[in-house]
Amino acid sequence: MSTSKPTIILAIESSCDETACAVVQKYPDNNFASIIASTTATSLAKHKVTKGIVPEVAAREQLQYILPVIENTLAQASLKVLDIDFIAVTVGPGLVGSLLVGIETARALSFAWNKPIIPVNHIQAHPYANFIIRENTHTSTFPLLSWVISGGHTEVSILHSHSETQKLGSTIDDAAGECFDKCARVLGFDYPGGPFIEKIANETAVSTSFTLPRPLLHDKNFNMSFSGLKTAFFRTFEKHKLDYEAEELNSLLAQELQEAVTDIIIKKTEFALQQFPEVQSIIVSGGVAANKKLREKLKTFSETHHKGLYFPPLSLCTDNAAMIGTYALFHTDLQTSWKNIAVQLN
Ligand code: KG4
Ligand code: ZN
Repeated sequence: MSTSKPTIILAIESSCDETACAVVQKYPDNNFASIIASTTATSLAKHKVTKGIVPEVAAREQLQYILPVIENTLAQASLKVLDIDFIAVTVGPGLVGSLLVGIETARALSFAWNKPIIPVNHIQAHPYANFIIRENTHTSTFPLLSWVISGGHTEVSILHSHSETQKLGSTIDDAAGECFDKCARVLGFDYPGGPFIEKIANETAVSTSFTLPRPLLHDKNFNMSFSGLKTAFFRTFEKHKLDYEAEELNSLLAQELQEAVTDIIIKKTEFALQQFPEVQSIIVSGGVAANKKLREKLKTFSETHHKGLYFPPLSLCTDNAAMIGTYALFHTDLQTSWKNIAVQLN
């Protein structure tokens, strides 16, 4: 580790139902950041009642949590305000009401503490969960193939460097996580449904009783679609709900849904490597990156193709402020005054 002084950032994330703050640092010569302190509060319990996020409820909860979360993170970090070099904040995309709570708080801190502020795009920040130090920290060189697979986004890009991202494609309708959430809801599970799908998929022996479509699988581009898959799932469930015991049907359908979603991701990864053979490693992020079936299938794929493969630890797959701060540590050139910060919805 370098002996020069690290850059220290206080980061805030409030784009959806998580309210998060982290203090992260990076030494000038290092290709990774480390977490000094991190706190995440979630309004998930409120959204279970409505089986999905109601934006206004999420925004009100952000307001309740934001200052206690920052206070707690600063106490954990036990450093002086003087030690903090920048404030970083998610400016979009996300729910406007939720974003505004984080943005206004960050602007107020930037103003009061006289620190420059770094605006961060939530989707561009997700992959940076792979640039936070741990046992097998990502140290591979660019270019990297980067997947962001969450409840709001499913997108694949080539990271040529920290300053050059080439978006290859994304879903043209629902995100992969959204597809898991909506299918799980039909089976009677709470939001977020992805972890339930993963759990019940393992509750029966592997079977090919059902076949769901893999939309756009063979198209020679990076468009993806999960809406048709969701509709096919609903129809198959309705058609067969009297033919099976509920638990067996749920498990068989969850198994096939998981296979279909992961097949789409593997196929587009394969196509990306054909187009960009110079890619060194694959990095995956977003809530769905927690999925074990996806991890297994990508591991087999990357070993066969002699590519590195990196996932964040489970706690950094879903939304957090450490990834926002880490992105900012690699993009300090984006620093500006609180006067120039506004919501950016795409
Ligand atoms: O990144 P994230 O916390 O929030 C967004 O930016 O959307 O991702 C949440 C999404 C939800 O759709 C959730 O169902 C999904 O990630 N998810 C999973 C798993 N854990 C979370 N999907 C599949 N398998 C999992 N184990
Ligand atoms: Zn996210």
